[in-house]
Amino acid sequence: MGDKPVEKRVAALRQGIQEHDYRYYVLDAPEIPDAVYDRLLRELAELEARFPELVTPDSPTQRVGGRPLAAFRPVRHQAPLLSLANAFTETELWEFDRRVRERTGRIITYIVEPKIDGLTVVLQYADGFLARGATRGDGLTGEDITDNLKTIRTIPLKLIEGPGRLVVRGEAFLPKQAFAGLNQEREEKGEPVFANPRNAAAGSLRQLDPRVAAARPLRAYFYSVLDLAAGNVPTQAEALALMEKWGLPVNPERRYCPGIEAVIVYCREWAERRHSLPFEIDGLVVKVNELDLYPLLGVTAKSPRYAIAYKFPAEQAVTRVQAISVRIGRTGVLTPTAELDPVRLAGTTVTRAALHNADYVKEKDIRIGDWVIAQKAGDIIPEVVAVLPERRTGRERPFEMPDHCPECGARLIHLPGEVAIRCPATFCPAQGKEGLIHFAMRDAMDIEGLGPAVVSLLWDAGLVRNPADLYDLEAAQVAGLARMGAKSAENLIAAIEKSKTRGLAALLFALGIRHVGQAAAKLLAKRFGSMARLMVAPPAELQAVPEIGPKMAAAMVNYFAVPANRELIDRLATAGVEMTEMRGPGERTMVLAGKTVVLTGTLAAMDRRQARDLLESLGAKVTGRVTKNTDLLIAGTAPGSNLAKARELKVIVLSEADFLGLAGGGDKEVDQG
Ligand code: IVH
Repeated sequence: MGDKPVEKRVAALRQGIQEHDYRYYVLDAPEIPDAVYDRLLRELAELEARFPELVTPDSPTQRVGGRPLAAFRPVRHQAPLLSLANAFTETELWEFDRRVRERTGRIITYIVEPKIDGLTVVLQYADGFLARGATRGDGLTGEDITDNLKTIRTIPLKLIEGPGRLVVRGEAFLPKQAFAGLNQEREEKGEPVFANPRNAAAGSLRQLDPRVAAARPLRAYFYSVLDLAAGNVPTQAEALALMEKWGLPVNPERRYCPGIEAVIVYCREWAERRHSLPFEIDGLVVKVNELDLYPLLGVTAKSPRYAIAYKFPAEQAVTRVQAISVRIGRTGVLTPTAELDPVRLAGTTVTRAALHNADYVKEKDIRIGDWVIAQKAGDIIPEVVAVLPERRTGRERPFEMPDHCPECGARLIHLPGEVAIRCPATFCPAQGKEGLIHFAMRDAMDIEGLGPAVVSLLWDAGLVRNPADLYDLEAAQVAGLARMGAKSAENLIAAIEKSKTRGLAALLFALGIRHVGQAAAKLLAKRFGSMARLMVAPPAELQAVPEIGPKMAAAMVNYFAVPANRELIDRLATAGVEMTEMRGPGERTMVLAGKTVVLTGTLAAMDRRQARDLLESLGAKVTGRVTKNTDLLIAGTAPGSNLAKARELKVIVLSEADFLGLAGGGDKEVDQG
């Protein structure tokens, strides 16, 4: 034994798969796409089926998975959490059905559910309360990630009229959009990107600090009742309905199929539909509906016989790298991008792929002219996953990051400890344009019609240099530009006008303050209620918000410390951009504790005496003249010389509306009664 080619191949596959298992399950850092891994495992299983004498007890086909890390408390599962055998073709689904019918001698109905590409989790409820949440780990022992799971808002902390004791299994995941946003943020921060949503979900849930999980919009769907205190559930369809009734999130996409024919029809429907879901699925799970047949069907070493995973064909394509260009992001980070020969991928024609950073290009040794495997990560951003070195001709050229910014010519910098290479120029047009594109994005100020092309047009015409300039635009100026008719100019101005009422959370996110993503912006807006309050908040107060860490707090303080940023906010406020957010009742606090405030001009809503009382009730010390010790100036109509003095000393100036917002008595709350 040991010399025949087939023995050698089996040994090599076994070792390779074990290594990939370790990287995937333990390190959360797989090196190869799942489709390639599946092929390796399949080849091994097929060889072992043909040569049973080659099966060893430690073969990856004989066990359930990898090992958990030691960092979290281990949780021993009541019964091993198995995974599923795969079917890659319709023929394999027919065979699965035949096996099930032969073993049971019964007519079989099925439930088909989407197979979400996330992280398996198990929840234990005791007396109706969530007692523990764990990962799958190696199938026998997982990790206690209760605190992280509790950050997923859809997971009930208490069941609705549910059974006392309940154990359920499901999948935690990051929706596609959140995944794309997270990776973009990581790229801008110079951190390594996640290869797919599964890794991103795993990376978020296996963090010792639950704030990381909380800041990411994780979700979960549950699909199996593993243990139920009382009563029995006859079918999978009812198990799903019951879990739903008890308040657990259950994927609404599922189908009852009276036979395998219906299963196959349903599977075909999903070939295209899968791309329209807000989360990534890599197949469908076909389950026998009759739960009483499960013991009869039994399990193999690795997977139960009552279900099978129907895997979609891999969304990968082979193409050639024509060129590698670099793009400068909003924070000045350079990202190399592969310009590809056009290729069809997951329903669209792809011509560019993300290469993330210079280290990624070097690590994968991607050269200009190379044939590569391109893939859509999380179905949104195509990326280059591997090179095909056997197709090299010798004419391929290695890629070199430029030394100088291709947009503004500034010398690029490489900060210690960062993967990213940045353009440090504050006035780099590429950064300015990206900043405007970000400002106008749907989740930010939502300015319809202000995409990359229009931003470039406005910029190149010298009409805008920062977001405040947008609010000074006039339709006539815009209509004069190439490719902009009178109608589209008017629409653009209307969209800009409309964006003024987006509110504080959207504005905070739109400003593109480092580390402040959409989730953090919402929390900050809710907690502080107004821009004015945020601008004066010391780091400790910012960090008092549970999800805000020291890095983000520092980024906020630094942002507001830059005079140009304060001026930008001032101009936005003057233009009428809303700077407040509705706040919950009872949240009015001593928001101005320790601040020195000056009032100038006339207020519409109250006289000076009332204003003074209100300020003092918020903890402020009210003085008459702006000096270098003044923190805030509140300017009504017809302000006196105090305003000019405040501008000179760069003291924060608030309008009456801002002041009311700060006091928690802004329009919105008044409207609510
Ligand atoms: S049933 C005994 N249903 O796919 C196996 N699995 O190997 C029970 N998955 O590890 C699994 N969606 O993490 C099942 N609706 C679904 C699923 C699902 C995703 C994952 C699960 C499992 C893997 C299959």
